[in-house]
Amino acid sequence: MRILSGIQPTGPSYHIGNYLGAIRQWVDMQQEHELIVFIADLHAITVPQSPGFLSRATMEKTSELLALGIDPERTTLFVQSHIQEHAELAWILSTLTPVGELERMTQFKDKAKKHAQHINAGLLNYPVLQAADILLYKPEGVPIGKDQVQHLELSRTLARKFNNTYGETFLEPRAIVPKEGGKILSLQDPKKKMSKSDPADTQISLFDTEEQIKKKVKKAVTDMGSEITYSPSEKPGISNLLLLFSLFGNGSVKEAEEHFKNKGYAKLKKEVGDLLAEKLAPFRERKATFLKREVYVREILTRGAKQARFIASSTMQDVREKVGLLLP
Ligand code: TYM
Repeated sequence: MRILSGIQPTGPSYHIGNYLGAIRQWVDMQQEHELIVFIADLHAITVPQSPGFLSRATMEKTSELLALGIDPERTTLFVQSHIQEHAELAWILSTLTPVGELERMTQFKDKAKKHAQHINAGLLNYPVLQAADILLYKPEGVPIGKDQVQHLELSRTLARKFNNTYGETFLEPRAIVPKEGGKILSLQDPKKKMSKSDPADTQISLFDTEEQIKKKVKKAVTDMGSEITYSPSEKPGISNLLLLFSLFGNGSVKEAEEHFKNKGYAKLKKEVGDLLAEKLAPFRERKATFLKREVYVREILTRGAKQARFIASSTMQDVREKVGLLLP
């Protein structure tokens, strides 16, 4: 199977939500499938970014993905803006997309609220670019967290619409969302998802120090009462911690619940903090190594772009012909 996914280079560092919702699936899947992963820098500029920072962040986030286990010998890893076909296909798909549908997207509404002074057309068209990212490579599956499912649905709709209008061209890919971990919650407001753009104490970065991890877990918001039970609606904070214990350990949520029976919130936080500190330590060390190997990381991106371009340019050639654009 061909599998594809993307991630923005925004925020201080990737966090445990990105890992459990998406990156960990990629690392597993690259063993058996053809995996294509890219850094979505064109998506990142739909909210204000400082140009000097963005290019550095793109390099740094590439190092993070390598540190987390993306294997460049198996996986095509590249930067979205290096393949111009993404923007070109996005334009063509935008002519098939009703504006009303984009205005109804949850992420658009959230971001428009957050960046009320900067509601630009790119923010509205964000899911169309995402559809182009995906459809260009004709993947069968797209491993993502829950928050991206709505965008994937639009990609499927646009694939269908294009095929109906211009003839069979695109595959309709399916979303691959992990059974558990598709939505990891904020440590400070466990009704909301953990987000890269929120303050540091709401998220655990995959590269936080041991002390930072333990401190953040210790300060995590919990729920009324003292009993440790898994109940996302009644005890969102405790349930989030139990889920983390289960996903970073090896047991089920049920077993985690059993393990903490009659133990109290302080004990739960202590053990979750210790476990995360232990499991994330190797990532931190590996990232430091890749950050020192800039030439090597650059080479990986150049090679990845070459592989990606090969597929993207062939799809685009077909699209141009089908749409009836005069070929040069
Ligand atoms: P981004 O960069 O926000 O997030 C990357 C991946 O992490 C998942 N994720 C989470 N999973 C569980 N719990 C959380 N709290 C959490 N927060 C984030 C996201 O669902 C995502 O899978 N628009 C995309 C990037 C993108 C893309 C694509 C993805 C651009 N083009 C094409 C797939 C295919 C985004 O902003 O992801």
